[in-house]
Amino acid sequence: MAALLARLVNPVVWRIPGHGARKLFGFSLAEHGSMLDLASAAHLAPDEGRRALYLRHMLDEARHAKMFALRSGELRLDQGKQSLGFPVADNEDLFVRLGELRFLAFVHRGEKRGRQQFEAYREWFGQRGDRKTRALFDAIIRDEVRHETYTYELLVQLAGGRERASAEIRAAGLWEKWRIWRRLGRFLAEKLYFLVMLLVYLVSGPFVLLASRLRPAAKGWVDHQASHVAEPPAAPAAPASLEWTGA
Ligand SMILES: [Fe+2]
Ligand SMILES: [Fe+2]
Repeated sequence: MAALLARLVNPVVWRIPGHGARKLFGFSLAEHGSMLDLASAAHLAPDEGRRALYLRHMLDEARHAKMFALRSGELRLDQGKQSLGFPVADNEDLFVRLGELRFLAFVHRGEKRGRQQFEAYREWFGQRGDRKTRALFDAIIRDEVRHETYTYELLVQLAGGRERASAEIRAAGLWEKWRIWRRLGRFLAEKLYFLVMLLVYLVSGPFVLLASRLRPAAKGWVDHQASHVAEPPAAPAAPASLEWTGA
C-alpha cells in the first residue's frame, strides 16, 4: 500500500520545487524519532542480547537520520537555499508505553512500510538518473530489510509463535490508526480554535466601535466623591479627591 501510494504520487510531488529537500528532511526526522525509541529499548530491555540488538538498530537509525539530513542540505544548497539542518524528533517513550511485545510489532510494521516506500523512491531516482539519491535509498533499504527481519523473528520468539505475533502486529496497526486519528483531531482543534477566535475578533469589532461612540471615555478631571452624592450641594464645594484621566 505504502509503495503503491509512493509510486502514484512520485511523478507529481518530486517535481514540486523544493519538495525533495523537505521530504528528505522529513525522513531524517522520522529516522531520528526511531533512533530515540530504540535508544530507550536498548536501555530498558530486560535481556542483554536484546539490548545489544536494539543498540545496533539505534545506531543504524542515527546514521540514516544523518544521511537524509545531509542529502536534503545538498539539494537545498543546489537551489541556493540554506540547509534545514539536523532535525530533533520528540521522544514518545513507546517502549515503555506499549511494552516490549507491542513495541516490536509496531517497529516491525514501520520498517516494512518504510522499506516498501524507499524501494519506490529508489526506483524513481534511478529512472531520473539521480545516482546519488538512488544510492542513498539503496544503502538505507539494506538496513531496513535487516530491521524488518530481526524484529519479526524476535517478535515470534517473544510471543511464543507466529499466530500470537500476527495478532500483536494487527493490534499495533489499530493502535497506530488511533494515534493518527488523535493527532489529526489535535491538529484540527488547533485550527478550529484559531478560526473561532478570529471570528469573535471580527464580529466584536463593530460593537466595540459603537460602544465607544455611544459612551466616549471621560477626559479631564473626574470628581469621584461628587458621583456618590445623590443631590448636588447648593453651593459648589472643593472636591475631596481629584484624578486626572487623560487629555
Ligand atoms: Fe531507518
Ligand atoms: Fe529501520
